[in-house]
Amino acid sequence: MKNPRGERVAVFPGSFDPFTNGHLDIVERSLEIFDRVIVAVAFNAAKDSALFSPQERVEMILEATRTPRVVADAFSGLLVDYVERSGAQSIVRGLRAVADFEYEFQMAMMNRHLRPRIETIFIMASEAHFYTSARLVKEVASLGGDVTGLIPAGVRRRLVRKLKEKTAR
Ligand code: PNS
Repeated sequence: MKNPRGERVAVFPGSFDPFTNGHLDIVERSLEIFDRVIVAVAFNAAKDSALFSPQERVEMILEATRTPRVVADAFSGLLVDYVERSGAQSIVRGLRAVADFEYEFQMAMMNRHLRPRIETIFIMASEAHFYTSARLVKEVASLGGDVTGLIPAGVRRRLVRKLKEKTAR
């Protein structure tokens, strides 16, 4: 499906706390299918326990992607409303192991219930990123482990700085 300007646009939503090389891989694969990809940071102003602010996460995504075909944005509220507002027709999600399936299936079905015309497209992550998750990256980095290769270099610099600030507090 295309928008009135004849473009295929997808929203790739997530917490992206932080953006990993696994996410970057999904963005790159999405660009093979879609003309434009909006990487959308979901946040909940009332109960967001994320390490990075939505603005910081948007900046990290822009630094890591650097192509006019990728836009980074933040949204709160329902994903399907955001997809409609942004003129996209599809939602992209990455799939890693089987363990992701049930959660992803539930979300895709709920989103389809809410907006039947918005399609969710699943893209298989590269095997190099099958075990990368933002949660584990944060845990490993906070315990002094090396996360090189798992996240973009700019994200790693920010993560190290953020964890230092956190422990100094
Ligand atoms: O990276 P995550 O945390 O697995 O992403 C989950 C996300 C942000 C895609 C999901 O929580 C979401 O869509 N949140 C927006 C609120 C919403 O629409 N909830 C109903 C989804 S079925």
